Order: sequence, then C-alpha cells, then structure tokens
Amino acid sequence: MSDGKNTVLAKVPSGASTGAHEALELRDGEKTRFLGKGVQKAVLNVNNIIAPAVRGKWKPEQQKKLDAFLLELDGTENKSTLGANAILGVSLAAARLAAVQKGVPLWKHLQSLFGKGTSLPRPMMNVLNGGKHADSGLAIQEFMIFPNLGNFSDNLRAGAETFQHLKKILQKRGESTAVGDEGGVAPRLPKVADAFDVILEAITVAGYEGKVELAIDAAASEFYGPDNGAPEGKYLIDGQTLSAQELTDFYRELVAKYPIVSIEDSHAEDDFDGFADMQEKLGERLQLVGDDLLVTNKKRLEMGIEKKLCNAILIKVNQIGTLSETFETMHLAKKHDFGTVISHRSGETSDDFIADLAVGTDAGQIKTGSLSRSERIAKYNQLLRIEEQL
Ligand code: PGA
Ligand code: ZN
Repeated sequence: MSDGKNTVLAKVPSGASTGAHEALELRDGEKTRFLGKGVQKAVLNVNNIIAPAVRGKWKPEQQKKLDAFLLELDGTENKSTLGANAILGVSLAAARLAAVQKGVPLWKHLQSLFGKGTSLPRPMMNVLNGGKHADSGLAIQEFMIFPNLGNFSDNLRAGAETFQHLKKILQKRGESTAVGDEGGVAPRLPKVADAFDVILEAITVAGYEGKVELAIDAAASEFYGPDNGAPEGKYLIDGQTLSAQELTDFYRELVAKYPIVSIEDSHAEDDFDGFADMQEKLGERLQLVGDDLLVTNKKRLEMGIEKKLCNAILIKVNQIGTLSETFETMHLAKKHDFGTVISHRSGETSDDFIADLAVGTDAGQIKTGSLSRSERIAKYNQLLRIEEQL
C-alpha cells in the first residue's frame, strides 16, 4: 500500500488446522496450478475491486471506517466474496501506513487505536510439534514451554536455552531433531506423557526448573470423530478411545503430574458439552483457551462466555479478516476478564505485525512458535526491539 510517498507491506498467513468457523481464505481451487492453492483470485480482488474503491477515499488512520467499508464491499458473513486473505492484507497495511505517516512505531499506533495500555507479552513457545503440524504420531498438536522469569528478554533466553537442551537430549537418545511446522522438534514418541517428560528434563538441565511452565494446544478437532479414525462423538488419543468427559479426566491426570498452566482447544470446536465440562472441572485452576472454538469471532466469543466454555481466547487476525473486528473481539474478551493470547499460524510469513499487536493491545501473551525458523524468530526479534523502546 502506498500514499505516493511511503510504501508499506502486509503479509497474510495461513493455517493447517483451521477452524470450521473461520472467515474464508480464498484459494483458486484450480488443481493443475499450485495443487489448487493459488491465490490469483484474491490478488485480483485486491487490485481490481478493493484498490479502486478505496483509493483516495479513505485516510489510513481511519481504520474503523476502512474496515467497515471493506465488510460492506464484501457483503457476506464469512468474507467469501473477496476472501479474508484479500481483505486482511489491506486492513493490516493501512495500519502500518498510518504509523509511518504519523512517524510512530506500529505498536504505538495500534495502542492509540485500541485505547488501552501496553505491555510485553509472555511467550508460549511450541518446542515439540504433533498433530497436523508434524509426523510425530502424537495426537496433541503443540507442546509449549511458558517461561515466567519476568521480563521478555529473560523469558526468550530461557526458552532458547531449554529448546537447545531439548534437542541435545533427543540427539543422545538417537531420536529425530528435525523440526515441524512451527519450529519445534517432532520426534516419534508413543505417548503424550513422553513428550512432557523429555521437555521437563530439558527445563531441568537448562536450569529453569520452576521458572518455565508448560502449556498445550490440543487442537482436539483433529483427533475427534470418524474423520480422524475415532467413533462418532469420541476422541482418539494415545491409542485410547475417549468420551468428552474421559478426555477431561485425561487432562486432569496430566495437570496433576506436570506443571501445565494453559490448555487450548481441549475439545473439538463444536463439542460445547466437552468444553463446558472442562471449564467446570478445571477452569478455576487453568487457563482454558478457545481457538478453533471461538475463531477470533465476537459472536462465537459471546456464545462461549454465555455457555461458560473457556476463560481465554486465542487471537488470530486472519481468522476474522480485519483489524477492527479483531479489536472488537479483544475488547469483549477483556471486559469479561478473558485471557488474550495473540497467535501466529502454522503457515506463517516473515511479517512481524503480531509482535506489535501483542504490545499495542496489552494482550499479555503471545504464541509464535519455537526458537527456530526465521518466520517465528522474526516476531521474537521485533519484541526485543520494542522492549528496548519501552
Ligand atoms: P494452525 O495452528 O495455524 O494450523 O491453525 C495453530 C493453532 O491451532 O493454534
Ligand atoms: Zn490452536
């Protein structure tokens, strides 16, 4: 996006384990070109429909007006006319251009739009990948370390050192240390508990026992029901077939044994009884995060609050498709004391926008992968730069 003097870029990510209720990511579907994953239609929508409609009419600092206009131009609930990928690129680029025009860092501009304070987020680092993000054979998608040393740079260092020790331990055992989609290792381990054991060993060897906690993203829609080899209404994990309540018990046992403080998508995205059971039994003690469950969508969050399905929300800008709607969802979450975790996607880009977003919205937490792969490290590096500025 350009105002004639300044030119800015915004990049749009993509997920492997997308929620069924996310805004539509427009792909061409032409099987002979990029296996159907091309985005020529979305690009044409930006160039031929959005650009002429927006050019000269909106100043970038009018973010709300611009986003409302984009919604109107699309005209559908899930952004299926233009594609959420087409719309989001414009929405994020406008915010970046406004910051450049004002001569302020992006996080500061986002703070003025959002209207709350700023803080450096505590990082959740996905050091061991499973589920759809790897071939590790583990049902749970993300095994994260969650350092709690105080400031951001100390947390980052603890994460990096723990990750390096984790690789060394696996190497010694003759296990694979090749990384999965989000930069964590992906060894073939028989059971979920084996992953926690080796991560805890790495934390101890690194010298951070008691200072680095654990978090998981089960992404349970991916091991639920006939589509995933389980019977109707059941979950398949560690070779066992479990009901929703038995799955809650499975987590309860893990939490009793390991220092897990946050569980994301414990149940499948439309298994509301499963989520409610989880919130009732473990919601007092743990952060329970809705990702595929809530898809950064204000209406889904309203439903989640009313039905008491969880107590925190994952925030992914491309699940909803505009910055202003992301803010509305976050305002609602904060009003109801829900935790907010800004998140990357498994198919992430080198754009570090979400680092500024986490700071400018005072989100408190960020989930942006392991301590490898430059598309993950880009966000951590930007947070280090912001820490210096603050
Ligand atoms: P995705 O994974 O980007 O593949 O959806 C991230 C997550 O589930 O949090
Ligand atoms: Zn998730």
